[in-house]
Amino acid sequence: SVIRLEDYTPFSHPVKSVHLTFRLHPTATTVRAEIAFDGGTGDLRLDGAALKLLSATINGTPVTPVLDEDGLTVPAAALPDGPFTWVTETQIDPDGNSTLEGLYHRRDLFITQCEAEGFRRITYFPDRPDVMAVYTVRIEGDHPVLLSNGDLTAQGDGWAEWHDPWPKPCYLFALVAGDLQCVEDNFTTMSGRDVALKIWVRDGDQNRCAYAMDSLIRSMKWDEEKYGREYDLDLFQIVAVDDFNAGAMENKGLNIFNSKYVLASAETATDADFDGVESVIAHEYFHNWTGNRITCRDWFQLSLKEGLTVFRDQCFSADMRSAPVKRIDDVLRLRAGQFREDAGPLAHPVRPESYVEINNFYTATVYEKGAELIRMLREIVGPDGYDAALALYFERHDGQACTIKHWLSVFTDATGHDFTQFRRWYQQAGTPRVTVEDRFEGGETILTFRQNTPPTPGQPDKLPVPIPIRWGLLDDSGEVANGTLILTEAEQELRVKTAARTVPSVLRSFSAPVILEQQGQAGDAAVRLAHDTDAFNRWEAGRTLALDVLAGDGDPAPWLDGVQAVLADDTLDAAFRALVLSLPTQEGIAQQMAQRGQVVDPDLVYVRHQSLEEALTSRLGPDAMRISNTIRPTGDYSPDGDAPGQRTLANRLLSLAARRDTGLARDALNAATNMTDRLAALAPLVRAGQAKQELAAFHAEWSGTDLVIDKWFAMQTGLAPADQALDVAKRLQNHDDFTWKVPNRFRSLVGGLIGNTAAFHRADGASYVWLADWLIQIDKLNPMLAARMSAAFETWRRYDQDRQTLILDQLERIASTDGVSRDMGEMVGRMRAQS
Ligand code: ARG
Ligand code: ZN
Repeated sequence: SVIRLEDYTPFSHPVKSVHLTFRLHPTATTVRAEIAFDGGTGDLRLDGAALKLLSATINGTPVTPVLDEDGLTVPAAALPDGPFTWVTETQIDPDGNSTLEGLYHRRDLFITQCEAEGFRRITYFPDRPDVMAVYTVRIEGDHPVLLSNGDLTAQGDGWAEWHDPWPKPCYLFALVAGDLQCVEDNFTTMSGRDVALKIWVRDGDQNRCAYAMDSLIRSMKWDEEKYGREYDLDLFQIVAVDDFNAGAMENKGLNIFNSKYVLASAETATDADFDGVESVIAHEYFHNWTGNRITCRDWFQLSLKEGLTVFRDQCFSADMRSAPVKRIDDVLRLRAGQFREDAGPLAHPVRPESYVEINNFYTATVYEKGAELIRMLREIVGPDGYDAALALYFERHDGQACTIKHWLSVFTDATGHDFTQFRRWYQQAGTPRVTVEDRFEGGETILTFRQNTPPTPGQPDKLPVPIPIRWGLLDDSGEVANGTLILTEAEQELRVKTAARTVPSVLRSFSAPVILEQQGQAGDAAVRLAHDTDAFNRWEAGRTLALDVLAGDGDPAPWLDGVQAVLADDTLDAAFRALVLSLPTQEGIAQQMAQRGQVVDPDLVYVRHQSLEEALTSRLGPDAMRISNTIRPTGDYSPDGDAPGQRTLANRLLSLAARRDTGLARDALNAATNMTDRLAALAPLVRAGQAKQELAAFHAEWSGTDLVIDKWFAMQTGLAPADQALDVAKRLQNHDDFTWKVPNRFRSLVGGLIGNTAAFHRADGASYVWLADWLIQIDKLNPMLAARMSAAFETWRRYDQDRQTLILDQLERIASTDGVSRDMGEMVGRMRAQS
């Protein structure tokens, strides 16, 4: 059934407090829930899923609620007037819970994941974020470590009691029990509160927690300095677990993480992994204020906490390292995930209006586009206006469950701006297209901007949105003018007095999440690549030149000239030069072709991509290896400062040089002393099908270290030549180390193949069949994971008629499978709609 935003009504019976008692058992855990209801009106309706109700009482008197698939009802007539105490005992099966939602038991660990609607798998409760209560939790079980939210208030042999003084929605409840070790540190907040910091991991993993702890401390400091937000308990805990559907979860005082975003060492993790740890640790920590202290009224408001928290973690990372490089990385990610989503059948607004399964809306749109909307708000009101609005947000809404309307109101009240039109950004799906034309006339440079948003499912007609456009004008001597225009109309002009024609540089820093189509003159992009004072647009100019070759029939020379000059400019930081030197992915090229209205031929994309790599290799000649060797950092590995960027550039150049001589990659592999360099050296060998021994050695060395073995699987399906990758995948899925029941391992193997564009889109459709088989199998166990992965098919309309039919056949096969989950049913239904 469809849940609609317009149907929202507050819950009938406010909750004051919750007392939970868990008697842990792998297959028969009992949960006693004592809930103090503060009166209310009408029937009492509680959510519940996969629960066995053992008993229920109201004020001590047994009651017999009406049970159904999704919960229970106590008729109004059976309820007392005024406040009452409701007590249930339920039994659950953590071992048998394959969904990884609610309470589950894996490798001797009890773990919870309650967002969005997992708490209903623990006990009967109003499982919705606007019901907030104070929780007291008693855990009984024969485990060395028994954890829940808040502060530890008492413990003894085989039990522990926790109390969280901050009212919270049930999706922030957490419990962990098992045999874990902890790494400890502490933090003194700005007002002098001493906070104990604990990261819990399996024995043996303690030496891979230092970067996570350091990131946590830096995040706590940053939130105090930039937002005035102080931590509000005496204890902050993080648990790393290997069996987890998402990246991490911000449970109050007890964050639970996929171990991928906690464990990192030079030997086992790449620079990108270290980045991931830093940003996810920050993200979950920042949720303490943007998500926990101020939460969402309903799940349509998900971006209220996620968009804002992504924006905050992006700014944090930008402050920790190069801001322009971080911005380029964020835009690459936005385009790869969100623009792709927005251009296909799964497009939806940042604030959706209906859903069948809310787990299907933890999307790039809600997260990444949501973050872009916050960035635009700051652009429109300026940094001081933004700070004032945020101060008002925390002051006015602390302790509340809010909506995006509340959020925009604080901006209006703090700055006097009118955000009526801005609301469309939250309501309209689809990526706006902005065109800009320039002319020089009567001593003025005149830029004409036009905007238009193409139709998306259910939204045929779109209205103009306010688009902040940072711009600059360049001539031979540099920049002659700059400013910010807010494009609010369908068409708008900007006039600037200049002595002659200038080269426009628009949408600097990617000031709005739009697709820019720039007419301009031949040579403009080359000028921007050489001289733009805005680092983002300098990089973007290179990208434009490359895409003109890859998605059109442009001449490669301007791109080659431009990137060669950038490479030689050692006043530029290495990370930036590496980005300029990188090509769009095949997926990125396909997206660009689709934007230009072309039918995408994945084989042609592959060939074009290869030939531009080839052209760059020829152009650089021996310089590639020479510069690679000079720039590669020596000495002890550091994930901070300039070293990661230097490694990225060195390894990019190595990958080009190895096209001529794989011996260079072999030498680099032997010399590598960290995982970043190792994987980079291994990649060309795997691509060339010359890595048999090296892969065997790698496996032997890292057997048992799950996160590294995940890389071993991903690399093989991800990099194998297009005609071999599916066979590789089919062989690897029979490997002893492959288990499809662990999401990280499943995502490595299957995600690797999906990311291998030419292999996934083989003309015979064999990869589509293979993926559909997997999705059908996984869907029976873990619908959230299966549904998420099904988005691999969302781009079907880009391709030729044959591939379209092949994909639609598989979608239909999935849809007609017996017992298809609500999650998968919704995804496949949306993808097939209007076909
Ligand atoms: N709130 C978590 C985070 O962004 C993610 C939870 C994912 N849950 C889900 N049902 N997909 O940090
Ligand atoms: Zn989040």
